Amino acid sequence: MNLIYKTGATIFLFLCTSFLAVSQDFPPWDAPESASKVQNPVESNKESLEAGKAFYNAACKACHGEKGRGDGLIKAANLTTEKFLLQTDGAIFWKMQTGRGQMLSFKASPPEQIWSVINYVRNLSAKKAIIAKRNAIVQLAINKQSGSKEVTAKILELTSDKQQVPLENIKVSFFAKRYFGNMAVAVDAPHSTDANGETTITFPDGIIGDENGALTIVASIDDMDFNPAETSEQVSWGLENPKNYWTERRSLWKNNDYVPIWLLITFAGGAITVWSFIIYVMFQIMKIKLIGDKLKK
Ligand code: HEC
Repeated sequence: MNLIYKTGATIFLFLCTSFLAVSQDFPPWDAPESASKVQNPVESNKESLEAGKAFYNAACKACHGEKGRGDGLIKAANLTTEKFLLQTDGAIFWKMQTGRGQMLSFKASPPEQIWSVINYVRNLSAKKAIIAKRNAIVQLAINKQSGSKEVTAKILELTSDKQQVPLENIKVSFFAKRYFGNMAVAVDAPHSTDANGETTITFPDGIIGDENGALTIVASIDDMDFNPAETSEQVSWGLENPKNYWTERRSLWKNNDYVPIWLLITFAGGAITVWSFIIYVMFQIMKIKLIGDKLKK
């Protein structure tokens, strides 16, 4: 009986503490009044929101989550609650510069970037009016002559009267297609279209293709005013991916046949350890049973 009470109490306590740990909110955090009065000097326009989004995804998303709900890798503040949104941009700016606990201080980041990320965070929870996005298409032109490896993407708007109009100043991203996700190429600078709706990159050397060196190039746009669009085309500019099992270098990002040896050994070692333990336990149980049978006799 005693044991049942003890077990019950332990389980109850365990449940209580885990519930507390989950429901525990961060203690109140107020910015000084002088900081709250500071105005956001950066207008919340497309340029600022795009800059804010890039900074958010690189520096905040891991903790605060994709949509700012505080549900990233660690529990972080929810940036979409009414309580959060009621504070001024100045107060948020101050908190981002000051930091607390696991919230880093972003004092080293340019103020403009911080103001932009604040614009973006506010935009995350704004009740967005459903704005019909415009449609665009991506075309790829590949210069196969003279080994120049030039790739030109052309972005055209599909207007409501079925016209195709070149779009200026649209950012284009280029990728090499991979099994899992695509690998960005030519990331040295943003590539925006010119007055003809075109932007050209030189495709980099040294990218591994399939056994014949074939690669798929993908060009895509991710613009707030347009629906996502992409197109792809195959070229033979990749390095040949040799089929030879023993000479090809093994890497984590390759398929099962090219698993690194250390990973194989670690995995096999882990599996063997676990199985030996299970077999050992079964053996011990059998022993107990045999002893029990003997005693009964
Ligand atoms: C390492 C994880 C981590 C990163 C990275 C991070 N935060 Fe935080 N953030 C937290 C945590 C945890 C809190 C809660 C701190 C507290 O209240 O003690 C917090 C709190 C905040 C707050 C204050 C919320 C309030 O109570 O008013 C703001 C604003 C904020 N973060 C914005 C950002 C922005 C913007 C970025 C990116 C530029 C960022 N954070 C990056 C973990 C992080």
